[in-house]
Amino acid sequence: LKRYSRKQDALYHGMREALESGALAQDEKLPSSRALAAQLGIARGTVVLVYEMLESDGLIGFARCKRALVKQKVDARFKTAAVPFHLSAWAGRLAAREEILAPRRIDFGAGYTDRALFPERDWRSALHRAMRSFDPGRAAPIAGVDALRLAVASHVVRRRGMRVHPDQVVIVNGSIQAIAILCHLLLNPGESAVIENPGYRGIYDSVRLAGGSPLLGPVDESGIQVEDWKARMCFVTPARQFPTGAALSNDRRAHLVRWAEKRRAVIIEDDYDSEFRRRGRPLEPMHCLAPAHVVHVGTFSRTLAVGLRLGYAILPQNLVEPFICAKRTFETHPAGALEQTALAWLMKSGAYERHLRRAGRHYARRHDLLHGLIARQLKDALEIAESETGLHAFARWKKSAKMLSVFEGRCREAGIYPGFTRRHYFQRYAPSMLFSVAHLTESLIEEGIGTMGRIFRSL
Ligand SMILES: Cc1ncc(COP(=O)(O)O)c(C=O)c1O
Repeated sequence: LKRYSRKQDALYHGMREALESGALAQDEKLPSSRALAAQLGIARGTVVLVYEMLESDGLIGFARCKRALVKQKVDARFKTAAVPFHLSAWAGRLAAREEILAPRRIDFGAGYTDRALFPERDWRSALHRAMRSFDPGRAAPIAGVDALRLAVASHVVRRRGMRVHPDQVVIVNGSIQAIAILCHLLLNPGESAVIENPGYRGIYDSVRLAGGSPLLGPVDESGIQVEDWKARMCFVTPARQFPTGAALSNDRRAHLVRWAEKRRAVIIEDDYDSEFRRRGRPLEPMHCLAPAHVVHVGTFSRTLAVGLRLGYAILPQNLVEPFICAKRTFETHPAGALEQTALAWLMKSGAYERHLRRAGRHYARRHDLLHGLIARQLKDALEIAESETGLHAFARWKKSAKMLSVFEGRCREAGIYPGFTRRHYFQRYAPSMLFSVAHLTESLIEEGIGTMGRIFRSL
């Protein structure tokens, strides 16, 4: 640091070098300006000035308490030269996708739940209990912690009327893991899997990545239109079609089961969003109609938190072993054994059902509010599809697709992100929007729809 005549320059360059080396962790606290000045025997004002310079370089930030924090940047010097590796055909089928980590200001597209409604006290005490029996020297079975498999089995028996033995339940890292594994287990390259159009993009991608060929089944207000497909498997969202919200009619359910029996095919019932029912009787899962042909896949992403990565697959007996073997190739021991044990406690103690009832009441209020606001502010633009359950609403756009693009662009500029449905149509896009409201407060819903209404009227 003798290179610099001024203390300020010496300190600035010295700290810059340390920050750019990447040796300090993101959000690591730097000494307070007072402490550093005393340590180096320089004026505090000099340190404050240097911190400000580093902040404008984007190398540090300040916490709410004004404490300086490291902001990590990757220095160009630490980047390695790109080697042109040969990627596999599998990698070639991967579709680039934008990752949305933090909800945007008003994001109607994100399928998150509300932080304020998370059963924090019960979860803490469940974690505490789980910790008592947690043994770091032992791994949980790959199918999941036994207590959770049991809790899930009794949950679906009690609430959904299913007939399930805990041995048929495998805990997965979110339902998408079950979907991907099933594609690998049931499809040879080039073989077909039926998927709904529109449908969940993650299912389409999983089929394609496994080398399979997605066969599109059109969806109307009674769900997927069943045909005598030449296919090994069929993915459906019978309780609440994604994204349209339609419930699969009884006729079509029976038709689908007859198809599976005839073709010796597997139906994958993606039950992603049926726990929060606002009206009517709960629908019987398809699993009850044909347990030997149906894999029932459920998730805690919408009821608790997407970040927990906990879901389950309820499999016909003869698929349990192959499924567990496939899972083991991706993870030798299951992730989150502690959280799995905590969740088992939460379910066993009744706290989970209490949470479903309480959160369900809040979500129903938000839904009614959304429906009322759209009917008042956007009635010439959107027609909401009626649905008795679920965390999002689907709305058909009444004007042209071109006008929708302009509208979406203007909403984005205003910081409002409607749920865009384009990526869930694999063919014949029908202009539409999604509105998830579970993670938004009532005032944000009002502000969001109010702004969208003003934008629409100005078009
Ligand atoms: C229809 C549908 N299926 C499956 C998933 C995957 O959910 P997760 O992997 O979080 O359980 C989602 C997520 O949004 C979904 O919308």
